[in-house]
Amino acid sequence: MTEASYLREKLESISPTERVERVVVQRFAVPLLKALGFDDSEIREEFETGCGQVDLAARKNGDPEDTFFRSPKNPYLLLEAKSRAVNLREGSCYRDAVCQIESYLLAKNCKSAKWGIITNANNIQLWRKHGKVVHPATANLDISSDNIESIVRNLRDKIENYERALTVCVYNNKGGVGKTTTVINLAAALATKGKKVLVVDFDSQGDLTRNLRAAPGKITLTQCLKDPKIDVHAIVQTYRL
Ligand SMILES: Nc1ncnc2c1ncn2[C@@H]1O[C@H](COP(=O)(O)OP(=O)(O)OP(=O)(O)O)[C@@H](O)[C@H]1O
Ligand SMILES: [Mg+2]
Repeated sequence: MTEASYLREKLESISPTERVERVVVQRFAVPLLKALGFDDSEIREEFETGCGQVDLAARKNGDPEDTFFRSPKNPYLLLEAKSRAVNLREGSCYRDAVCQIESYLLAKNCKSAKWGIITNANNIQLWRKHGKVVHPATANLDISSDNIESIVRNLRDKIENYERALTVCVYNNKGGVGKTTTVINLAAALATKGKKVLVVDFDSQGDLTRNLRAAPGKITLTQCLKDPKIDVHAIVQTYRL
């Protein structure tokens, strides 16, 4: 039996109205971490983050002397579990859990942590930490026994093949509220700090391009997205601050 099908079986053994968090930890969260590729010696319960205890922490072992179980330092992934009685689909309990995983990921004993998971065996969401920014790496997903195996594949794929760049989208439905201005100044601030920055002007008004005094290229971003034969590098321009 694969770890993922074992997880599915465990999931089905939890009562739909389960009120005990520990049951979710034991029957769902631990098997989930195993399905994500961590073994028993790579998982710790009630890990002290420096800002409270997170239910589970995990990291791959180094050499045989350096097992996470024996030296619980430098976690890679944190998991905060809730019982099924806690609504993690939306509302204040969900928002509280998000704040909780964020504060754990940023806590002093978790500097090495890159990933956070919140789950109550009904919902699950993966979070990514990039520097001091914690952002969702997946939508808040509804779990069922039909989709749990594909959820695990998706989470594992994200964790093992993560994108190194942080994507920031500045979005507001209202016009003229400072979106473009924010993008330019954020890009400038990051470039000043030595970061490699790509700004993307997806607005037909072309304000970002004009404000940077860049000339629009011959090929548009839209053409590039529509035609897979166009290499995206052909539309990227170098900009000197
Ligand atoms: N913090 C600010 N204080 C004062 N003026 C600002 C500030 N931020 C932006 N502006 C001014 O507000 C105007 C609109 O800003 P901007 O073009 O960035 O908005 P936008 O949301 O990108 O607009 P659009 O919806 O047209 O794309 C500009 O003239 C800009 O200089
Ligand atoms: Mg704009």
